Amino acid sequence: MRIDIITGLPSLLESPLNDSIVKRSQTKGIVEIHLHDLRDYSTDKHKNIDDYAFGGGAGMVMSAEPIATCIDALSENCAYDEVIYTTPDGDTFNQRTANRLSTFKNLIILCGHYKGVDQRIRDKYITREISIGDYVLSGGELAAAVITDAVVRLLPGVLNDETSALTDTFQDDLLAPPVYTRPAEWRGMEVPPILISGNGPAIETWRMDKAMERTKERRPDLWEKFNQQSES
Ligand code: ADE
Repeated sequence: MRIDIITGLPSLLESPLNDSIVKRSQTKGIVEIHLHDLRDYSTDKHKNIDDYAFGGGAGMVMSAEPIATCIDALSENCAYDEVIYTTPDGDTFNQRTANRLSTFKNLIILCGHYKGVDQRIRDKYITREISIGDYVLSGGELAAAVITDAVVRLLPGVLNDETSALTDTFQDDLLAPPVYTRPAEWRGMEVPPILISGNGPAIETWRMDKAMERTKERRPDLWEKFNQQSES
């Protein structure tokens, strides 16, 4: 997979993309991630990438030309499955979207900033608009990092234990059950005995029960969805 991220603030993305699992997946050659500094595509002598909003009002708008130049240049060498724009008014990101995106070969993520991007870029280039939640970040970079992380960890070969992404919270519309590690007794608190019983099927049943209990308690919306799916 190849992910091209277009941003006015590449330094904000360097650390999250060069650590842990996302870094390892690049080292292993499973994903290529390229950062593109929008300022490199500005023809303005001050390397500006934004301008005042037509009609007035506070806040700057990201200009169309540097973004278009960048996307056009990238598209000359690569056919992109999706051109994603990170914005608080996009569709809320979830595991289903992460799963879908992980099946694609080439993605562009354009990070929004300021008061957003000139609408004509959205109309002409953007195929999917994603919000990572109902709050406003200073820019779309952290959202791009979140999306990239959630997608990359799903790619085959990224996680050592291939099954572990499949047992994640949300993967089957249930929250994950509680987990424990050694010592079996810690500060007077014991691990549920079933987990050290060595009885594989009983452990699976316990985990499923706990996952359902937790989902019912904490996320009635997911619980309802899970029940509807079980019925159909
Ligand atoms: N940019 C600013 N806030 C955002 C959010 N919640 N999701 C995606 N991009 C954003």
